Amino acid sequence: MTQKISLSRYLVEQQRIDGRIPPQLRLLLEVVARACKSISHAVNKGALGGVLGTASTENVQGEVQKKLDIIANEVLIEANEWGGHLAAMASEEMDGIYVVPNRYPQGEYLLLFDPLDGSSNIDVNVSIGTIFSVLKKPDDTPGVSEADFLQAGNKQVAAGYCVYGPQTTLVLTVGDGVAMFTLDREQGSFVLSEENIRIPEDTKEFAINMSNMRHWDDPVKRYIDECLQGKEGLRGKDFNMRWIASMVADVHRILTRGGIFMYPWDKRDPDKPGKLRLMYEANPMSWLIEQAGGAATNGHQRMLDLQPTKLHERVSVVLGSKNEVERVTAYHLDAARKKAA
Ligand code: AHG
Ligand code: MN
Ligand code: MN
Repeated sequence: MTQKISLSRYLVEQQRIDGRIPPQLRLLLEVVARACKSISHAVNKGALGGVLGTASTENVQGEVQKKLDIIANEVLIEANEWGGHLAAMASEEMDGIYVVPNRYPQGEYLLLFDPLDGSSNIDVNVSIGTIFSVLKKPDDTPGVSEADFLQAGNKQVAAGYCVYGPQTTLVLTVGDGVAMFTLDREQGSFVLSEENIRIPEDTKEFAINMSNMRHWDDPVKRYIDECLQGKEGLRGKDFNMRWIASMVADVHRILTRGGIFMYPWDKRDPDKPGKLRLMYEANPMSWLIEQAGGAATNGHQRMLDLQPTKLHERVSVVLGSKNEVERVTAYHLDAARKKAA
């Protein structure tokens, strides 16, 4: 019988291989996984646990918070604040950063998260998730401030998500490929279910909210038009469409069988660069996608090279199968060139 490899064992082994992950980072990842396990239990209880429905509060982005947004945020903070591995945390659900209280030792890492991604799906029993990104606090500054968080995605030291679907699956990278762990509810632990995940470079599946079509910019229209023309059109093949409205679930599908995901800038609110947030949605997902051989851009530039200017910065997102992402990016660059000429 092949032996099951738990997340703990996987992380210990990663630590042993040339110290690929330092002990504090290993602890951090174990703690995040434990928090995800407890969020998963809350999600599973649904109406019986009193976790469905809306709270009477709004987050910094002006979105009405769901009860589970707040619960998941608290679970992640409580799990992480005392271990001595973190200096501070930042979340979609908190205006500013959360500095580890003085009564606990301060560590060298910074943790960012979207505690509950896909909030509109909570009450309808569709897959949702948690997304996280880990950075190192720059060591040239005393204390910790929001500015310490404003690092490009290429500085991440770990990133991942946990999807609460028919199975609870944790997906992780520390910069050496992507590994997936499935929650074994009887054992209460995450077990390695796949390693070295690779995304096919080509795909026949796209994910975009088509109801926004009339607001899109020309390069996005051009790309989707060509997909919709199917076999008879320029692409010479039929495309399928999927849109779950939980980025975690859409990205999980892409990591599993390929595809392209887009949440582009659109004309509804031209001053807003996009809907999704750079630091705790786009960056961790982009790194996972790149680590699996895919690509991620904001339509013009590599996502991971963007320099954030604020914690809750929004961004246009194009990620997934490499050749498709390159095509969409080329269409954007082409349009920009023509506009400049
Ligand atoms: P969140 O629930 O954390 O606010 O994120 C929701 C995001 C993302 O998960 C999803 O891809 C997108 O919003 C769905 O947006 P639409 O409802 O506009 O399709
Ligand atoms: Mn989200
Ligand atoms: Mn969220």
